[in-house]
Amino acid sequence: MKVCVLGAAGGIGQPLSLLLKLQLPAGSELSLYDVAPFTPGVAVDLSHIPTDVCVTGYVGDDVEAAMQDADIVVIPAGVPRKPGMTRDDLFNMNAGIVKKLVGVGAKACPGACFAIVTNPVNSTVPIAAEVLKAAGVYDKRKLFGVTTLDVIRSNTFVAQTVGKSTDEVNVNVIGGHSGVTILPLLSSIPGVELGQADIEALTPRIQEAGTEVVEAKAGAGSATLSMAQAAARFTMSLVAAMNGEAVTECCYVQVGDDSSSFHAQPVVLGKDGVDSIPEIPPLSDYEQKVLDDMRETLAGNIKKGIEFANAE
Ligand SMILES: NC(=O)c1ccc[n+]([C@@H]2O[C@H](COP(=O)([O-])OP(=O)(O)OC[C@H]3O[C@@H](n4cnc5c(N)ncnc54)[C@H](O)[C@@H]3O)[C@@H](O)[C@H]2O)c1
Repeated sequence: MKVCVLGAAGGIGQPLSLLLKLQLPAGSELSLYDVAPFTPGVAVDLSHIPTDVCVTGYVGDDVEAAMQDADIVVIPAGVPRKPGMTRDDLFNMNAGIVKKLVGVGAKACPGACFAIVTNPVNSTVPIAAEVLKAAGVYDKRKLFGVTTLDVIRSNTFVAQTVGKSTDEVNVNVIGGHSGVTILPLLSSIPGVELGQADIEALTPRIQEAGTEVVEAKAGAGSATLSMAQAAARFTMSLVAAMNGEAVTECCYVQVGDDSSSFHAQPVVLGKDGVDSIPEIPPLSDYEQKVLDDMRETLAGNIKKGIEFANAE
């Protein structure tokens, strides 16, 4: 298994690489790339940890070598949100980075699973799809927006609210990965009963949890450590699925034949990426309204990505 992290020297990239060095199966290769000149040093540093995962660092023009024949490419490369910025404000900076990196991946590892962390995920994933399509290698089963942070935040906040262990809480989060497009399904958590008042307090908190971190870090960036854990969990689920286990994760994928039908929801992962996409559980009236209200925003985010990718 070769896993490549692009943006590996960043706030998310470094702890993500550490978690993968600790968790990937023995014999795996962990390939780290970043434009930051000290990236080979991050790889040397990690390589001193005694696990049977081989770590290599790449920088500068070596992005193609970093990605060569990778099975999974995780992309947290980009610029993080600063106070007052929305994820959509990041669009112009990050869209070009994702377009370029996925373009290289289309040649170096066309059969890989691509897991996009770079925000705004609602738009950067459709950009990646268009780039892969233009290169003739798009497989909708193998392109993911990583929305796992919304899931782990939901699990944490719900567990705190009801006084359960976080191990006992598994919230599905659907829609997209920005503000009002994040819809945690709090009315149908297995083994957890939440009152409507709690649901209506927790939903906006989960939608704006990223802002909580951005403001608390006071200009020093956005969520990095929790995001690294979220991306590591998603990557390890992909690894398990590629090794034959059926694993379900919420993530942002193309759900229909229409190339603009991107949506986050529970997805069964298998050897070739998305194995099947189960029906979304029945929604409460409140959740249905949030879903209906987000549609225009999500469609606009997707359109913006597709137009960016296809503009010269
Ligand atoms: N999906 C999510 O839930 C989620 C959560 C938090 C942050 N993010 C996003 O993740 C991204 C990274 O956040 P961060 O806090 O790690 O930022 P950071 O600035 O700490 O790190 C980003 C890294 O990307 C590198 N980079 C920039 N351009 C690159 C390129 N062309 N090729 C390779 N590397 C490049 C930078 O050198 C830097 O090391 C941001 O877009 C942020 O908005 C996503």
